[in-house]
This record gives sequence, structure tokens and C-alpha cells, in this order.
Amino acid sequence: MSRTRHDQSHVMKKLPLPLLALILLVSATGCSEPESSSVTLYSGRSQSLVQPLLDRFTEETGIQVNVRYGDTAQLAVALIEEGDESPADVYWAQDAGALGAVQKAGLFTPLPEAVTSRVLPGFAAGGGAWVATSGRARVLAWSPERLSPEDLPERIEELARPEFASRLGWAPTNGSFQAAVTAMRMALGDASTRDWLLAVKEGGATSYPNNRSILEGIANAEIDLGIPNHYYLYRYKADNPDYPVEQSFFAPGNSGNLINVAGIGHLASSNKTAESQALIAFLLENTAQNYFATETFEYPVTREATPGTQLADFDKLSELKPDVALEGMDDLEATLVMLREVGLL
Ligand SMILES: [Fe+2]
Repeated sequence: MSRTRHDQSHVMKKLPLPLLALILLVSATGCSEPESSSVTLYSGRSQSLVQPLLDRFTEETGIQVNVRYGDTAQLAVALIEEGDESPADVYWAQDAGALGAVQKAGLFTPLPEAVTSRVLPGFAAGGGAWVATSGRARVLAWSPERLSPEDLPERIEELARPEFASRLGWAPTNGSFQAAVTAMRMALGDASTRDWLLAVKEGGATSYPNNRSILEGIANAEIDLGIPNHYYLYRYKADNPDYPVEQSFFAPGNSGNLINVAGIGHLASSNKTAESQALIAFLLENTAQNYFATETFEYPVTREATPGTQLADFDKLSELKPDVALEGMDDLEATLVMLREVGLL
């Protein structure tokens, strides 16, 4: 007896400390809740952005995160196909439309009020199906060399005017652009949105593959105006403060100022409630919120977090944002049909 104990402690002493810690952790959690130390995440956010945060979560909680990285919309389709059989516990998307589609399919289970009440109004689905983790605004980007602020349109609708359309760049295949069109459909109706798309296209707008190439098109003087997401310009300016592009919001409440979100929800088919909620709560802590603000220049969504000084403050954002319910933005299909009909896809 004493010999066995001696041998065991001898072996334990020879193990490297991290391994010993791991064994103790596994045996401690393994006794009471055999499957409780991991959670499976479907992430539409990129690995390079998200993995450092997830590693930190695992360090703090001991909960391993198995991640399937992919395109936000494709993961939503996968979840809808997998239904109750999905291995996913948590879905993290970078578009409210994709969250809405998963919500509409009845695949989310409500998050506790303690979680959803941490974010600012409008940044959680009613009923708690999902909660935003950061905000992503649509803006008007423009050349300060060839335009001055008083030349700029106040409403996105005005971009259909030939003097703007002929100098505009947009990215019809980009998911954020498509979400912005969905928001316009909700704000203006389908007929007006279709007319606007056609007028801008026929007015000579240039199509770019993505947000970055729109900004580069302005910097290279191919175009003078563009409608990208807000955070790309901050990245260019971080490298080069003189990067020759500026950006503004449209007038308060205009649908051109859509504030989309990255957001996360807990799947009804998951049996890892505590772990899933711990991960979601972690992403609303200041550590994670400030990480989004500094790494990606996205807007924090909680009351406690303070956006970097270069980002607009949230009171201003709430005033600027259109009256479009993010959770109603689940009808991407109709937007894609419209974009095909007008020849943009
Ligand atoms: Fe993006």
C-alpha cells in the first residue's frame, strides 16, 4: 500500500508540470461530467482572427473548443441541413442575415437574459436566439483629393444620380454588400431597391470583388466613391496614416448606414449548455470586446466596453443607424434573386 503510493507519487513527480496539470484537470472534470470539457463551434469568422481568443478562453476555463471554420452563409446552410444531428454547439456568424436564417429554422435555443442584456439595444435577437459580438457598419468611402465633404450625397439613394454612379465602386458578390441590399429592401421596399440597383449599374458603377479593392480603386483614382464596410479603411490607415481615402456616414437613419453584426447563438441540439454559454459570455467580456476593436476595428456591443477613440461612439451610432431590425434580415435569397435579375450577379 505504502509502496504503491510511493510509486505513484514518484511517477507523478517525474511528469512535466503542464502534463501533470492536464491529467489532474481531465480526471477532475472527467469524474462528474464526462463530456463537459469541450464545445464544438462553427465559425464564420476567420481562424486568424478568432483562434487567439479561443485559446485564451481555453486557458481560462479549461474548456476545449473544437472549431469548424468556414464561410458564414455556407455554415448556416450546413446547420440547416444537419438539423438535430449537427455536432455543433455554437454558431458564430459575421452577418445578421445568416443568424436570422438559422433562427428561422428553429435551430437556436434562447440565451439567458443575463447574457443578452449585456449588449446595447438592437444587438440581440428578440427572445435571445442570438447575441451580437461586434458591430460592422456600412459607410461611404471617398477620395479627399477629388471630392470635398459638401459634395457628398446625404442618402444612399442619391448614388443613383449619374454624377455619383459613374464614379462609384461597389462589390455585388460580397456578403456585406448583399446584406446592405437586404436592409435597403426592408427600408425602401423591393421596387425602389431594384430601381436603385439598375440606375446605379446603368449609371456606370464599377464592380469590384470585395471591400478592399473598392478602397484601392479610390486610392488609385479608378473611382472616387465606394460603399464598403467601415473597418477596412482603419486597417489601411494603421499602415499608412496618409492613405488617400476618407469615409463618412450618410444622414442619420439612412439605410446606407446599416450596422450589421457578427453574432453568436447556442444550438438547440447541443447538450453542452454551460460550456456554450461560458464561451458566449466570454466573447462579451471586455477582453474580447477590446480585442475586436483593436484587431479588427469593429464596434464593441456591450455597455461596459468603450470603442477606440478613432471609432464613432455608440450614442452616435444609435442615432445614425437605420430603423431596420437585424433579425428580420433573413431573406438573403430574395436579394440574390434581385441581384441576378438586374444583372449584377
Ligand atoms: Fe469583411
